Amino acid sequence: MKRILVCGSNGLLGQKLAWMLAANSEFEVLHTSHHRNFFLAHQPLDYTQLDISNRSDVKSLVSSFRPDAILNAAAMADVDQCEKEREQAWKVNVVGVENLVEVARRINAKLVHISTDYVFDGKTPPYDEQSRVNPINYYGKTKLAGENVVLIGDIDFAILRTIVVYGTGVNVRNNFALWVIRNLQEGKNIRCFDDQISNPTHVQDLAQAMINCAVENRKGIYHTAGAEIVSRYDFALRAAEIFGLDKELIERSKSSASSFPAVRPLNTSFTIGKAKKEIHYHPMNVTQGLELLKKELQGINLN
Ligand SMILES: NC(=O)c1ccc[n+]([C@@H]2O[C@H](COP(=O)([O-])OP(=O)(O)OC[C@H]3O[C@@H](n4cnc5c(N)ncnc54)[C@H](OP(=O)(O)O)[C@@H]3O)[C@@H](O)[C@H]2O)c1
Repeated sequence: MKRILVCGSNGLLGQKLAWMLAANSEFEVLHTSHHRNFFLAHQPLDYTQLDISNRSDVKSLVSSFRPDAILNAAAMADVDQCEKEREQAWKVNVVGVENLVEVARRINAKLVHISTDYVFDGKTPPYDEQSRVNPINYYGKTKLAGENVVLIGDIDFAILRTIVVYGTGVNVRNNFALWVIRNLQEGKNIRCFDDQISNPTHVQDLAQAMINCAVENRKGIYHTAGAEIVSRYDFALRAAEIFGLDKELIERSKSSASSFPAVRPLNTSFTIGKAKKEIHYHPMNVTQGLELLKKELQGINLN
């Protein structure tokens, strides 16, 4: 039996990991997150509070649980919040990762860590694992620094870079798909950029990739994004189609019209061939991902 420690279990990715790991009796799992309570507390899952930026707490928890693998889904992932609260962003996305690397080295555990397309500037797509990084916002800078901490940490690791993750869960932060669907359901007009282009990723594919990395003997950086490259505008149109909502409410717009605190890279499309080949990563396209989200929101298939 493999012992797995999950960090960030209350997030979108963390909750999906919880459902998927629970379905496999080969794993003994301890879920942790920053909040005192587990948002899936109604499930018979082991949970304890853990702030990954607290070095002594990380050390004592890991020395007593002694996982074979640590799956890190914890992060400050709100791009604009990172731009405004830089100290906290660094603390979670860099210092937190340093703490996990240190304990992984000490007990010889594998660290599976999540990074982002925002390590790229979006000017020279498509990006593969060898492409030159050049983050243009603070979130991207902290995530790149986190990657570097893992790379030089002298541990067994996998870094999974992903893009526009969507799905649902209990109390989860808004994501692009949910934002589109909720607004259209309320009959509100939305503006979507046709010049922000990438591979949106259903969270189930990302969670599966993390689990694959925990069990497989592979080390390195992997691009684990969705199977299809689309603009935010086209993604919104597809969501309207699949959810039976009014496409006329979706207005085509340009990023230059945005007033977000953090600047976004324009085209961060990934090639995902390495992950397909080495870690059996076979993600959904946009239609498949949105069809699954529809079922999940209807409560038909929550695992
Ligand atoms: N969402 C996207 O579009 C996207 C795109 C590219 C990459 N990513 C990356 O994917 C990963 C997962 O993202 P997500 O969308 O699942 O994020 P999320 O829903 O915001 O979840 C992140 C979780 O991290 C936990 N956390 C924050 N600070 C912590 C700390 N100091 N110690 C322990 N836990 C802490 C929070 O826990 P509590 O709720 O318990 O406070 C939160 O639930 C992140 O690494 C993110 O950078 C996401």
